[in-house]
Amino acid sequence: VIKLIDLDLKGKRIFIRADLNVPVKDGKVTSDARITASMATINHCLKQGAKVMVTSHLGRPEEGVWSEENSLKPVAENIAARLGKPVRLIKDWVENGFEVAEGELVVLENCRINKGEKKNVDETAQKYAKLCDVFVMDAFGTAHRAEASTHGIAKYAPIACAGILLTEELDALTKALLNPARPMVAIVGGSKVSTKLTVLESLSEKVDQMVVGGGIANTFLKAAGKNTGKSLCEDDLVPTARALMDKMAKRHASIPIAVDVVVGKKFEANEPAILKDADSVADDEMIFDIGPKSAQELADIIMKAGTVVWNGPVGVFEFDQFGTGTKTIAMAIADTKAFTLAGGGDTIAAIQKYGIYDKISYISTAGGAFLEFLEGKKLPAVEILEQRAG
Ligand code: 3PG
Repeated sequence: VIKLIDLDLKGKRIFIRADLNVPVKDGKVTSDARITASMATINHCLKQGAKVMVTSHLGRPEEGVWSEENSLKPVAENIAARLGKPVRLIKDWVENGFEVAEGELVVLENCRINKGEKKNVDETAQKYAKLCDVFVMDAFGTAHRAEASTHGIAKYAPIACAGILLTEELDALTKALLNPARPMVAIVGGSKVSTKLTVLESLSEKVDQMVVGGGIANTFLKAAGKNTGKSLCEDDLVPTARALMDKMAKRHASIPIAVDVVVGKKFEANEPAILKDADSVADDEMIFDIGPKSAQELADIIMKAGTVVWNGPVGVFEFDQFGTGTKTIAMAIADTKAFTLAGGGDTIAAIQKYGIYDKISYISTAGGAFLEFLEGKKLPAVEILEQRAG
């Protein structure tokens, strides 16, 4: 693909599609990691003396319906504070004309309000394209969506290129997944096998060890013949879990199964944690974490790895008494010499809780797009950039 950093931008109209879909409360951005990650591209364009426009979706608004709640105003204010100067927020930017000065940044209001955005309507994409000389796709977090601002515009803009963040994300994910240093370890946590089945299937063909955690692990424990009591477990997927284990064993890879677990009887913040052998979970108990022996085994695997890909906690780490497993794994990921890649909302929350943000080789800004990349899917917004580059 064409890269932004290779282009001469002086005086040009630059349309940046970023992923500034951040949490907002009472008109203020509560976590601005995605804005921080998007600033490299914005600053680069400003420094070159370009006329810079940036837009993003925020939430999932209904088409044609603007409201305070889905406005990018808090985002524009956050960016203005970083730049130390006011930033204009432009409403109705598709229909109404506007000018941008050289070296100026304007924020174009939530693109998902625009008619034709979500359905990737050609006419909408063409109107976007007319606003710019260069389209910069930098929204890795939305690269799995073919919408007018992520995909359509790239067909019609005079030049369509990858921004600095998108390039970094693709480099990190490619290094970890397509060209990994071995042994390669994936950690896939979360509540359900069903929501991550394609991720598990795809990774099971690539990795040396696939660590499953959370509710997902319970289905695998059952497949390994253990009682999981009242734990979240998808009985209909037990044969699928068994098949994945067998398939990996055949090529001398494995899905490590917990030898000890931490259980409780109720899903409550003050529920006492009870350590159990994985063979002796009672019918009225629920598994909320892995035990210390299992956590240590996983930590050893992580320490010996060449690559670690982490998506999802291995226990209910929101409750401290059920967070030890996730903490042990997080610490090993922080300490290992392996190339480490993490992504997804829960994973980032765990990384923040255990204070290891600076010790991960790369933390993706994406949720859904990260998972689709792990599934081995082509991201439509990246594919169109490849096509445009010829
Ligand atoms: C995300 O938060 O995962 C991205 O911004 C995409 O948002 P969406 O799922 O609403 O398209």
